[in-house]
Amino acid sequence: MEHPNSARRGSGLCPTDLELLASPLDFLSEDHLRERQICTIIEQLAAADALDRPLALTVLRFLNEELNVHMRDEAEDLFPLLSRRCTDEDSIDSAISRIRAEQDEAMCLLPETRLALAASLDTGADLTAAGRAVLSRFARRVRRHLVAENAILLPIARARLTPADQRKLSAQMRSRRGLPPFRETSNAE
Ligand SMILES: [Fe+2]
Repeated sequence: MEHPNSARRGSGLCPTDLELLASPLDFLSEDHLRERQICTIIEQLAAADALDRPLALTVLRFLNEELNVHMRDEAEDLFPLLSRRCTDEDSIDSAISRIRAEQDEAMCLLPETRLALAASLDTGADLTAAGRAVLSRFARRVRRHLVAENAILLPIARARLTPADQRKLSAQMRSRRGLPPFRETSNAE
């Protein structure tokens, strides 16, 4: 699927450009780049002597606003489509189970990660040793989860999802963000 406009790609330094929703698998791939970039910032925050407030706010905003939407894109739209389209030899259900377990392992640290950042931002104090440890563990687990999604899920999705599936995925992801579907130019499957 071609991008209808010149969407920004490749940096992960800002929220994924909504124009990329025309190509939903590219959008998810770009979201992963964004997640990796945030992991790098989290690791910087955990290692720094003094709290970098703008960076801490960037991470907190990402955790509060972007991450949940991305996880819903996958859990509610991508995973069910993949389960329907894939063959037994893809072993997609076991891959999805493994990936969800890794995601759960990362996300169970999300409340503590948020709390550590919010407490430092509120008080102006540097991160505690315990807060730094939580941030480092969270970033490590998210990175491990991303490797599996990029190496297994997205390549299978690119191979198995039909153009119609991808249009449906695009429409669902746009709807989640309060956007109408792109106008279709062809009914071809
Ligand atoms: Fe993901």
